[in-house]
Parts: sequence; C-alpha cells; structure tokens
Amino acid sequence: MLKKLIKIATISMISGTIMFAANFNAQAEKDRHAFVNYFLKKFENPVANRAKYFPYVPIEELKKDYIYPLKFEDFKNGPMSWYRPAKEQFAEINDFPPYEIPLDDGKELFTKPFANGKTYSSCFPNPAIKQNYPYYDTKRDEIVTIGMAVNECRVKNGEKPLKYGKGDIAKVIAYLADKSRGQKINIKIPSANAAKAYEAGKKLFYKQRGYLSISCNECHVQSAGKRIRAEALSPALGSTTEMPVYRLKWGGLGTLQRRLVGCIKDTGSEKPKMQSKPVKELAYFLTYMSNGMKLNGPDTRK
Ligand code: HEC
Repeated sequence: MLKKLIKIATISMISGTIMFAANFNAQAEKDRHAFVNYFLKKFENPVANRAKYFPYVPIEELKKDYIYPLKFEDFKNGPMSWYRPAKEQFAEINDFPPYEIPLDDGKELFTKPFANGKTYSSCFPNPAIKQNYPYYDTKRDEIVTIGMAVNECRVKNGEKPLKYGKGDIAKVIAYLADKSRGQKINIKIPSANAAKAYEAGKKLFYKQRGYLSISCNECHVQSAGKRIRAEALSPALGSTTEMPVYRLKWGGLGTLQRRLVGCIKDTGSEKPKMQSKPVKELAYFLTYMSNGMKLNGPDTRK
C-alpha cells in the first residue's frame, strides 16, 4: 500500500514538473509563432501585398530592389535578407571578410594559456555552444550571456575580466560563434522567473522610449523592410544570429550587447550599461524570437 502511494506520488510529482516545464514557455511560443508568421507573410510577396505592408514604397522599387519570397532561414541576413543593393554590396565585401583577422585573433586568445596554464577550453570543452546563449540559469536565477560566461571563465582562472562590447571579448565570442556556425538557436524558458525575464524583455522591445518616443518594434517589425535615410531596416526575426558582427561603422567587431545599447541610445534614451538586467532581458527576448534559426556569425554589417 505504502509502496503504491509512493509510486503514485512520484508519478504525479514527475508529471507535475513536466506539465509546469512545458508551461513556462507557453506564452513565449505563442508570441514567437505570431512573430515569425508576421515576417513570413510580410516578405512573401511585397509587390502583391503592397497595400498592407509597404504602401509608401514605390512599386518600381519593390519590384527592382526587394528580394522575395523570404523563407525562415533567410532572415538571418539582416538588411541583406530583403534589400538587393545591400545584399550585392555585402557579397562583395565578404569576398575578403573584414571579420577574418579579429576571428583569427579570437582563436589565438582562445588557445593561449592563461597564467595558470589552462585555457578557455577548460570552461568550454565544446566551443559549439553559442546557440544556447543567453540562457536562464535557474540556480543563480539570472540570465547568463556569452560575454558573462567568457569573463567568468577568466576570473575562475585568475585573470581579469575583459571590458564588454568590443575588443578581446568580441574576438573570443567570434571564435565561439564561428565554432557554433550552423547550430540552431535554442533558448529555453525553464522557470517562472525565466518567463518573467522574457516578459520584461518583451516589454522593453515594445516600449516607446526616448525623446523620439519610438520602440524597437516600430523600426524592426513594423518598418522592417523599409529604408530610413541610407539604412535598410532589418527584421527583428533573425537579428541576433550573426553576432558578434564586424561593423564598417565601428571599424571592428562588436557584440550583441553593444548593438542593443547603441540602438537604445539612438532612440534618444539614456544609454544603459552593457550586461545590465534590462539589456540582458531584451537580448533574451530577442534571441528567443529566433529560436530554431541557424547561427551565421561572425558576419559583416554597415
Ligand atoms: C529609429 C529606428 C530604430 C529603432 C527604434 C531601433 N533600431 Fe535597431 N537598428 C536600426 C538601424 C538603422 C540599424 C542598422 C540597419 C539594420 O540592421 O536595421 C539597426 C540595427 C539593429 C540590429 C542589428 C541587426 C543586424 O542584422 O545586423 C539589432 C539587433 C537591433 N537594431 C536591435 C534593436 C533593438 C532591440 C531596438 C530597441 C531597443 C532597436 N534596435 C531600436 C534602427 C533602429
């Protein structure tokens, strides 16, 4: 009798956890499906669906310069996914990819022993891990980004942490990204607090901010596939796959955090700190939205 009771209790405990675990990402999955479908529809046929999605873009431009139909995987190419002139320009630039030298540096940094004789491999025995970042660490109850993981590895080995955003940290992440090329983004929402962090990131994405009172959503969802001044706006779907990225404007590599902080500042808001809670939450939300998409970083951008 007791045995039976224990068995029932164990089963219900297990199924209880499974039910819960499946539930934490229920809302996020709903969001993600709607998000992906919006972009697939929008870029299925911009000429035929001009009235709905691109009423202000001249029809000749849609016919001449827009690439379509776009499939799920196409979105990882940012502005080059849909805008032919950008695609052609960057195909040429990537004949000799400007990220190659910093990527080589990244490999060197990764394999060079720390003062204690160990290398980054002691923390990342399998470097093909970028698809899992940022992840929600349920023990620490916080989002862990790949930059944090790199710095924590250094500190564990008696080294000083690196400055976030660019320089050596971007190079080391570029090496990890390159080793993770082709892996599918796999962001999980493993707990109730992780779901809260996701929701907080989502809120930031849709929040109008700064003196321009504009949201990420307005530029990278509603206006994705349009141009503002000389810029072709990239779809938010797939917008983290290519990180870290060599930007011609930066003249070097930068991380996702650097880009996010830059875009926040461009809305006329105060610049948040890299690795601060809101920036991590934004990265968590944004990366989750591209779950299942293959990584293709590092890459080149304007
Ligand atoms: C005023 C319009 C505008 C707003 C608002 C804006 N961005 Fe951007 N963003 C740009 C432009 C322009 C670029 C460079 C061209 C491109 O990739 O769209 C860019 C690039 C990016 C990229 C790089 C995409 C790639 O494939 O290289 C990411 C990621 C990004 N933005 C995220 C955000 C987030 C998150 C927010 C909200 C905090 C935001 N942006 C708000 C205009 C904007």
